[in-house]
Amino acid sequence: MAGARGEFSSRLGFILAASGSAVGLGNIWGFPTQAASNGGAAFLLMYLLMAFMLAYPALMAELIIGRHAKANIVTALRQVSSNVLTRFIGTLTGFAGIITASLILAFYGIVAGWMIAFAGAPLATVVGADVVASWLTGFGHTRNLVFMLIFMLLTCLIISGGVRQGIEKWSSRLMPMLLIILVGLIAYVLTLPGAMQGVKVYLLPDFGRSFNFQLIVNALGQAFFSLSLGVGTMLIYGSYISKKENIASLGRAITLIDIGIAVLAGMLIIPAMYVAQHNGVQIFDATGNLIAEDTLIFAVLPALFDTMGGTGVVIGFAFFVLMTIAALTSSISMLEAPVSYVNEVHGLSRRASAFLVSTLITVISTIIVFNFGDLFVLVITLTTRYAQPFLGLMLCLFVGWIWHRNQVLTEIKAGFEQAEQSWFWRIWPIYIRYVCPVAILTVFAQKVLG
Ligand code: PHE
Repeated sequence: MAGARGEFSSRLGFILAASGSAVGLGNIWGFPTQAASNGGAAFLLMYLLMAFMLAYPALMAELIIGRHAKANIVTALRQVSSNVLTRFIGTLTGFAGIITASLILAFYGIVAGWMIAFAGAPLATVVGADVVASWLTGFGHTRNLVFMLIFMLLTCLIISGGVRQGIEKWSSRLMPMLLIILVGLIAYVLTLPGAMQGVKVYLLPDFGRSFNFQLIVNALGQAFFSLSLGVGTMLIYGSYISKKENIASLGRAITLIDIGIAVLAGMLIIPAMYVAQHNGVQIFDATGNLIAEDTLIFAVLPALFDTMGGTGVVIGFAFFVLMTIAALTSSISMLEAPVSYVNEVHGLSRRASAFLVSTLITVISTIIVFNFGDLFVLVITLTTRYAQPFLGLMLCLFVGWIWHRNQVLTEIKAGFEQAEQSWFWRIWPIYIRYVCPVAILTVFAQKVLG
């Protein structure tokens, strides 16, 4: 063991860090674009259901194992195992989690790099450097590589600072900024002509589309990605929570913040699309659906900002800074999963672990940059569609079936003495044992069997 373990300084410190992990590109990009292409409020409704009923219980499983074991995911799963076989499965699951977190960071770093580049473009335009601006917004190996490297370096520097001086300090600085920029942008966009039509599309559900199986699958996947589940990031953040805190209420706070920010981001993006339409930008594709995914973020919105003249420069800059901040507070949590393992199990200093692991992940990112067409979507699909729900399932099985129920209760009771009489303890164990595994398996089977 290298040195004493870190711990968040307060309840608020944990809430900012863990909601920083949860709130990321998944909320500000993924959620609104999924809502845009899945019937607006219909998707919102299903997402709320999935997040509260399945993702929140799974989040609690990770936080509880983490705080109990006070260790990285590999050590933690071995600790809660009861025999040689489950210890072995625990080790495999832990490694799979760390590798998945690293691969997620490898593609996330590239996307986050684009956000920095797009934040730089309006500034370049202002000073008349149009060639630079078009390089920043045009797709190319060099640009992708340069900004991925910048983003990875930032992530690595924060993580090498440790729990309080790195993760907590930067999450506490960045999360309030994120909220201010987001609310400011919404307030502005809602005053523009066309915005109210977007609000209607977003908030009035087309129930006919709510109960379609594919939509449920998408909503569950989105909820798992958004709450950073399955890969040991929430587990390791949980391991830095003091035993004095009520962990059930902390988990609830994180879930509410995560959902709240996703819903707010929808109030920005979807109305902004209709403002764009009002200004003459095309927002529907050839099949009549709202344009989503990367075209929405990197073509429709910049086209909207262009129609807004000088104000558009400020708004465009603020929007991509918002994206960069959201990405950074998430990427540090991804990096913490493997770094904590190397630090705790192999005894390397935190700084050395951070640089070693970041270098490895950056190499993988570089390979993806140069083989973009073959690897980018493949890595995203493997990690977020398959590995994450599968690992989420494994963690539920560990807490529901392998770990001793009395120990689970004892862990929850630390900081929450009346736990046994609470609704949480009446409902959550059933969810973790039966409801979550069956639901995840169903969704998983549907994905695998197509
Ligand atoms: N929750 C993050 C987002 O919404 C992504 C993430 C996934 C972070 C897995 C950590 C681990 O963008």
